[in-house]
Amino acid sequence: MKKLRTQVGIVGAGPAGLMLSHLLHLEGIDSIVIENQNRQHIEGRVRAGVLEQGTVDLMRRTGLGDRLDREGLPHDGVYLSFDGSRHHLNFRELTGKCITVYAQHEVIKDLVRARLDADGQILFNAAGVTVHNFDSSPAIRFQQNDEACEVSCDFIGGCDGFHGVCRPSIPEGVLTVFERTYPFAWLGILAEAAPSSEELVYTYHDRGFALFSMRSPTVTRLYLQCSPDEDIHNWSDERIWEELLRRMTTRDGWAPNRGPVLQKGITDMRSFVVEPMQCGKLFLAGDAAHIVPPTGAKGMNLAIADVTVLSRAIAGFYKGKSKALLDAYSSTCLRRLWKAQRFSWWMTAMLHRWESQNEFDHRRQLAELDYLTSSRAAMTSLAENYVGLPLE
Ligand code: FAD
Ligand code: DHB
Repeated sequence: MKKLRTQVGIVGAGPAGLMLSHLLHLEGIDSIVIENQNRQHIEGRVRAGVLEQGTVDLMRRTGLGDRLDREGLPHDGVYLSFDGSRHHLNFRELTGKCITVYAQHEVIKDLVRARLDADGQILFNAAGVTVHNFDSSPAIRFQQNDEACEVSCDFIGGCDGFHGVCRPSIPEGVLTVFERTYPFAWLGILAEAAPSSEELVYTYHDRGFALFSMRSPTVTRLYLQCSPDEDIHNWSDERIWEELLRRMTTRDGWAPNRGPVLQKGITDMRSFVVEPMQCGKLFLAGDAAHIVPPTGAKGMNLAIADVTVLSRAIAGFYKGKSKALLDAYSSTCLRRLWKAQRFSWWMTAMLHRWESQNEFDHRRQLAELDYLTSSRAAMTSLAENYVGLPLE
């Protein structure tokens, strides 16, 4: 068996795992990232696209700002659209902060490049990953190129997403799960079409939610609420466009530009949290510990926030020989995480059509949107959550 040794063994090369490895490196702490996919796969995986101000600040502060500043699209706010009209919320004016549209897989590319340039180790194509002994001497075992490998370490970062192996490896009875599912999903497309709005448009419509976003000056990203058991094969490009335009076209004639569909898929929606986010020397971060419905654009930002807290705690341990920050990791993250859960649930509830709801609820949702877009206090509340609450 090939034996390797590092200070922090990290499972998963998503935003959480790679950023953890990057931040630890800047603190002079050694890590190895173990990923079951190949580099091309993780660098091409289309997922989230909105960075909170804090995520952008962190990337700049840690040397990852060059391409982000060149190619990222800074947005002052978003539009909420309902009853045929768009209403602008200006986050910059309301909070002094803004958001940046920059695709998750671009963040991944920047992180992989930064790690490899610093001679960091990312072990791709690791099969059969298992984690062991996190009460005493942690170890991560896997197969790579038909060779059995073991990484022994002081701590394990469980950054392997919702379907990973770290969370299920924690003994029964340690974790409490808090969960809710939603009776709808999102059908998302990437289209080769110049964005027809400079900012995102969240639409509440009789036929269901729709979202206009973008990836670049030539690529539009669009989503529409659909049933969770929907088969993507039943959705021709023509049917998708028809439904998107029906929901999104406003009375003043605004609508997304059409163009060839580059990619399409369906994402289910859930809220999920485990408490605590740690067990002995295994620390869960990002989707491994929690999932939010995508309506508030929080998933990737939460993953980055967790590992910011975790890297400080691990650095505190090596520098000050104090376990205090490590012991507090879960409670520090969960306090902020639950607020993001609340926000994501609220945005989802307010903007989607619920089969179980009647005409009263529909009128109530319209009234909420009317209030939200006419009260500075209500707009400020949405804005400060959307741009990201403070880490502490
Ligand atoms: P991940 O990005 O999932 O990274 C986990 C990594 O671990 C992956 O590279 C995976 O290959 C690897 N891994 C998994 N299992 C193992 C194993 N056993 N061994 C080794 N490696 C393993 N959020 C939004 O805000 N807006 C969106 O529109 C949006 N769209 C999404 C669409 C999809 C299809 C998905 C799945 C998520 C989406 N999200 C969205 C959520 C957001 O992308 C996640 O919150 C974010 O990726 C979390 O980062 P992470 O590093 O915690 O996990
Ligand atoms: C995008 C995704 C989201 O979940 C969201 O709320 C806003 C934008 C996007 O993919 O661009």
